[in-house]
Amino acid sequence: MTIDLSALPHDFLWGTATSAYQIEGAVAEDGRSPSIWDTFSHTPGKIDGDDNGDIACDHYHRWREDIALMRQLGTDAYRLSVAWPRVVPGGDGPVNPKGLDFYDRLIDGLLEAGITPSVTLYHWDLPQVLQDRGGWPERSTAEHFAAYASVVAERLGDRVTHWATLNEPLCSAWIGHLEGKMAPGLTDLTAAVRASYHLLLGHGLALRAIRAVAPRAQVGIVNNLSTVQPATPRPEDIDAARRMDGHTNRWWLDPVHGRGFPEDMRELYGVELPEKDGDLELIGAPLDWLGLNYYFPMTVADDPEGPAPHVRSVRRPGVPRTGMDWEVDENGIEELLLRLTHEYRARRLYVTENGSAYPDTVRPDGTVDDPERQEYLTRHLAACARAARRGAPLAGYFAWSLLDNFEWAYGYDKRFGLVHVDYRTQARTIKGSGHHYADIIRRHRDRT
Ligand code: NOJ
Repeated sequence: MTIDLSALPHDFLWGTATSAYQIEGAVAEDGRSPSIWDTFSHTPGKIDGDDNGDIACDHYHRWREDIALMRQLGTDAYRLSVAWPRVVPGGDGPVNPKGLDFYDRLIDGLLEAGITPSVTLYHWDLPQVLQDRGGWPERSTAEHFAAYASVVAERLGDRVTHWATLNEPLCSAWIGHLEGKMAPGLTDLTAAVRASYHLLLGHGLALRAIRAVAPRAQVGIVNNLSTVQPATPRPEDIDAARRMDGHTNRWWLDPVHGRGFPEDMRELYGVELPEKDGDLELIGAPLDWLGLNYYFPMTVADDPEGPAPHVRSVRRPGVPRTGMDWEVDENGIEELLLRLTHEYRARRLYVTENGSAYPDTVRPDGTVDDPERQEYLTRHLAACARAARRGAPLAGYFAWSLLDNFEWAYGYDKRFGLVHVDYRTQARTIKGSGHHYADIIRRHRDRT
């Protein structure tokens, strides 16, 4: 399948993405304090294989090699996250210079290699000390987040212009506080709703703090969204799809677009929001860009017995699935990019993550052939290009992920990398999909 990428602008950013806890390792080095993910992953039974991020890809020591890999892939952008517990180990209060130094070196290394950094400030690694004080269900966490964001932006803002406040707050709030499958592992609707509110408040406060110290900053937020369709035309299932759309999409998009929290969902959760005057204005301050993480579409049916939003997922027969058991359907990415364009009037869009896990096999000659991942990439890029042709202001694509890494509750078993990591030796090998991505990038550059 050849892809027509002619609708993508000539300065389109071609990138890869990672996050701190998933790749860095070095969890006790240079003054880093534990995060909620250290605690969660060291709790027996929470992670497949009882894996943890203690060493991960050892990127903290191997970042130069990893930048060299980005160059080999021909990418010109890289989305990374800063670990709050490295920079402000106490959650609030004193800054740890050694923590900041690491990101300073990394940014310089990227810029020297001609790679534009995109920095995410929160990719789920809340300092454990703040969890001990109540975590995201408490307003003070949002305030501490903004203070930490300001410190990072002040140090790096002369070189980094591309900032994201939060990564996938949906997962922090719903999976971390309602489903209990991610840190901090709670199953409490009130805590989850309060966490969702304070995450978005933290976004608003951080946005203002970053702009105050780094006037050139372009600030956005990264959401994981899904298309949601009813399993049947029954009214109960149509209503289930509305609720799931509210839970997954509107709850996160409406407030940051100045529309407040959706009324129907407030009613459904039945939890009073800890609102104060002025919060909604802060949360709804105009964004410079919006990030979309897209993996799979959802099909849902009514499930009155299940937890909020009282839906269950339904498998569509005959649809291919990845190693995560997620459906492969690239139409979702096109549809969501267009929805963000038309319904939310996005000024600029990035696909900040998209990718697939498959059980890769390393051949005797050391190469890794991954035709399914290549096909996933091709199909989704083609869908992105279609969205751009239909008017979506799409300015870049970040493949998830540069490296195989710690896939949260799934541990190391699920591999999303364009580059294979042998966790015994830390050897990196560019997979077939990495070479394929490099070809696509080269072809786009040659044309424009
Ligand atoms: C989204 C998350 O941001 C990332 O951390 C995770 O590894 C990928 N999805 C794949 O599940």
